[in-house]
Amino acid sequence: MIPHQSQPVPVLESNSKAPLWLRTGFWIAIAISVAVVLRRVLALATPPRKLPPQLASLDNTFAAHTALTLAHIVPALLFVLLVPVVVFRPDRQPAWAQGIFYPLGAIVALTAYAMSLYSIGGWTERSAILLFDTLFLVSLARAYAYRSHADNLRERRWQLRAIAILLGIATTRPVMGVFFATARLTHLVPQQFFGIAFWIGFSINVLVFELWIRSVDRQRARTSSSPIPNSPMRSVL
Ligand code: HEM
Repeated sequence: MIPHQSQPVPVLESNSKAPLWLRTGFWIAIAISVAVVLRRVLALATPPRKLPPQLASLDNTFAAHTALTLAHIVPALLFVLLVPVVVFRPDRQPAWAQGIFYPLGAIVALTAYAMSLYSIGGWTERSAILLFDTLFLVSLARAYAYRSHADNLRERRWQLRAIAILLGIATTRPVMGVFFATARLTHLVPQQFFGIAFWIGFSINVLVFELWIRSVDRQRARTSSSPIPNSPMRSVL
């Protein structure tokens, strides 16, 4: 169902820009996402010879499912490269960008479910994937439904939500880095901490996005009596 008037005012109508820390986090997440794909493609193409046993075993896991891994990470890379266009050029988006945004997102989500069958972190990781991947898909589907109703403001709100959830995958990486760095103290192995890292990474993104979007809504509600000087399709990030 596509609700209408009772919903909060879409974030798009806000005049405010996203704070610098949020924009910085956004670009760091994009950079991490691109880097992990390039690193994985390289490892699949030319497996590194000298690696610590834990990392070598991770590489072997993904090499055993090369086709599925590529089917996940290549569309994921394209989607992530598309994200800045969607976020920063809402009113000047080329038709091709809109055309491939939803199919690419769906492929990333569906292949992520398949990847979770072989998840390093077992059920702790799988449960995080089931939840956050589904949240991503639902957000994407709602954005698409609003698009079909030509409701650009709400489409954009749900697009941004989907993107924030998706980029949770990048937030898991520094969290994993901390676990790797402290492994000598904690004695935790990837099979134990990958799942925890997935829960922490995705939760951070969902929480930060929801807090931010609500703060913009509140700000907007406070100034709702003033006219909106700019196009509602202006970028908010
Ligand atoms: C909804 C978003 C996403 C979900 C739920 C998801 C889920 C997963 C899962 C479950 C795995 C297997 C990990 C394991 O076995 O422990 C995986 C691997 C991978 N994903 Fe995603 N993914 C998502 C988005 C992305 C994005 C946006 C990128 C980068 C552009 C990405 C890049 C990778 C890479 C490179 C791997 C191979 C493992 C590695 O090299 O670390 N994923 N993903």
